[in-house]
Amino acid sequence: MATERYDPIANPYAPGAGTPPPALVGRGELLAGAEVALRRLRAARTAQHLLVTGLRGVGKTVLLAKLAALGEHHAFRVLRVEATGGDDTIAGLLRQAGRLVEDLGGRGGVRRALRAIESVSLTVAGTGASVSRRVSDPARDALADVVVDVAAVAADAELGVVLTLDEAQRLDRRDLRRILAGIHRAGQDALPIYAVVAGTPDLLGGVARAATYAERLFEVASLGPLSVDEVAEAVAQPAAELGVSWAPQAVERIVERSSGYPFFVQTWAYHTWNAAVDDPISAADVDRAAPHVEAALDASFFAVRMARIPPSRLAYVRALASLGPGPHPSGEVAAAMGKTTRQVGSIRNRLVADGIVYSPRHGWVEFAVPHLDRYVSRAFP
Ligand SMILES: Nc1ncnc2c1ncn2[C@@H]1O[C@H](COP(=O)(O)OP(=O)(O)O)[C@@H](O)[C@H]1O
Ligand SMILES: [Mg+2]
Repeated sequence: MATERYDPIANPYAPGAGTPPPALVGRGELLAGAEVALRRLRAARTAQHLLVTGLRGVGKTVLLAKLAALGEHHAFRVLRVEATGGDDTIAGLLRQAGRLVEDLGGRGGVRRALRAIESVSLTVAGTGASVSRRVSDPARDALADVVVDVAAVAADAELGVVLTLDEAQRLDRRDLRRILAGIHRAGQDALPIYAVVAGTPDLLGGVARAATYAERLFEVASLGPLSVDEVAEAVAQPAAELGVSWAPQAVERIVERSSGYPFFVQTWAYHTWNAAVDDPISAADVDRAAPHVEAALDASFFAVRMARIPPSRLAYVRALASLGPGPHPSGEVAAAMGKTTRQVGSIRNRLVADGIVYSPRHGWVEFAVPHLDRYVSRAFP
């Protein structure tokens, strides 16, 4: 039994969006596979790219950053893009591509790469989403050339390129197709570019629809909850490094409360550390932290996503929540609202665009945010 509180400044846990966890657990195999792919590419051999899918908070962004760092370690330059749904996504990619090419200036292919960048840039001259209506512009197809040409310039400099594309489900489908076409062509030319594309689970369908060859282009990593042992490692190891231990029952409690979702694991561990009075940290300490965890999740993680939802869409969210966790047939959600599937189709599509729900398979819907059903039942009874 302890007396003193644990030092909140030394608290090792890292709840947040894209915040690197103190112990990155359960990703060993993926990282080992990526390392093989990177080294093969550097040896002018082919490799599959990586498609990472999962709900909010499973660790996609953190994994992307880790893979980018791994790439840098193997002499790859990184182009890092987070899709926003507007043209700024492509503008950001072009800006980074341009900088990279200029950086490696003086090599073959530089002029061609800059020309491709320039011609696509003309299609994103404006800002925001409005311009993306114009993307049928044939100049925009040069986006595929940008990918190939940048990889070629890097290859000339004895470097590779890692392209990370986060929140890719938000990318305009035609732009996604162009980027995939570039990656495909680069592969055929044995150019050293490694693409890591991450998004919500429906991205898989989006990628398959964008190009027939896309499935073969990627190895798919569907991230889900961590296993019991992985949660234990994520919680105990960072503490052990600071000479603090967790009772097995406390870890079990965090497994239960978090359902193994990495973001929830970090959140529970973080608040438990601050609330704990026992040594080792006990299940009672986890319970002591519960009000803090719930307040923190409600105020940030959940509320942020719900705040922008107008009442018309809220009815759909409540109907889906009333059916409990997991995916449900669209027809059942509509029925719970006393409507037909067709009547609520546009509401559902808006919620998909908002990242609140997604379609795990045709005709089904599920919350894209774990535990959102519980929150909605609690906050909007
Ligand atoms: N493999 C992991 N082990 C432990 N914690 C993790 C792991 N991956 C992510 N996290 C934690 O989960 C939270 C969400 O990670 P993030 O990458 O932002 O998820 P996503 O991009 O899927 O929404 C962060 O607090 C991060 O520290
Ligand atoms: Mg993310």
